[in-house]
Amino acid sequence: MSGPNTDYDPVEVTPLKPEEVEAARDAALAAIAGAADLEALKQVRIDHAGDRSALALANREIGALPPQARKEAGQRIGQARGAVTQALAARQAVLEAEHEERMLAEETVDVTLPTDRVPAGARHPLTTGSELIADIFVAMGWEVAEGPVIEAEWLNFDALNLGPDHPARTMQDTFWTDPPESGVVLRTHTSPVQARTMLTRTPPIYVVCPGRVFRTDEYDATHSPVFHQVEGLAIDEGITMAHLKGTLDHFATAMFGEGITTRFRPSYFPFTEPSAEVDLRCFVCRGVDSQDCRTCRGEGWIEWGGCGVVNPRVLTACGVDAERYTGFAFGMGIDRTLMFRHDIEDLRALFEGDVRFTTTFGSEL
Ligand code: DAH
Repeated sequence: MSGPNTDYDPVEVTPLKPEEVEAARDAALAAIAGAADLEALKQVRIDHAGDRSALALANREIGALPPQARKEAGQRIGQARGAVTQALAARQAVLEAEHEERMLAEETVDVTLPTDRVPAGARHPLTTGSELIADIFVAMGWEVAEGPVIEAEWLNFDALNLGPDHPARTMQDTFWTDPPESGVVLRTHTSPVQARTMLTRTPPIYVVCPGRVFRTDEYDATHSPVFHQVEGLAIDEGITMAHLKGTLDHFATAMFGEGITTRFRPSYFPFTEPSAEVDLRCFVCRGVDSQDCRTCRGEGWIEWGGCGVVNPRVLTACGVDAERYTGFAFGMGIDRTLMFRHDIEDLRALFEGDVRFTTTFGSEL
């Protein structure tokens, strides 16, 4: 005799007749086959294999059967439930695979499609080039100094020992502001920043001054009424021409690569004594078999700028004790330097603002 069936719930008694088990199984299999997606299958699983499904309830009834009926009922219900579980697993696998395939298709990105992204601009090579030059000197402990582009005639000329009769002061080279007797010019070089610095600081002074300058030049492949210079000024005790040479050699190497040194040719500038023109070792032929070199036109050297030992008259005019201090100065064209460095054939490319030119420099420096 079996004991009391504690699980027995008369309300949920499910008939255990074979045809009803079959019907429940078939209904489950039909519902599984009809589940269109994973969400639907989830509901089917609850309805047909969940705790309150017909087969689960029937299973619970087995214990209440007389022992001789249990085996057969257990087998029948077990098979039916097994078939449902298998069908669920198979359908789940199919729907998952379908889902994955659909996601892959839906999320495909065509990387060849044109984009509507706004093209990123690029900093102008004159900006990045000026910063590079400044960085070379800042790394040596120098400072960057600046001055106005609209400059006092006295600072642009007189303070630099360019007397009233100096040819650079004529209407030929200089842009004068109206009225002409105002004594205000568009600076013709960055050298007035030397004067400004000496007048406002006490030595030792080590400054580099990149900036825009103006001259009444024609606009062609090698000239422009607006161009850029970098001025250097070092004032200290015991400064000599040798310091100048070493500094410019370092500058040249940093700009153009190892082994590019400088050569001095005697020259004249009112603000330096002695003065020199600086040539740069041609970085294309490096002075070897120069006759065929297009960059230096067979010279082995390229003209780079002017330099010299600061004229004591300039020191005195700018309030520096010329007995105690000496100094050197130099001035180079930045545009020219960049033309060499990047093989730019026409100076105008730097001023036309063509973004196709500028962006080629975008990732540089
Ligand atoms: N200011 C000169 C020019 O524009 C260049 C120059 C030459 C600057 C010699 C200097 C220097 O500082 O020492 O042509």
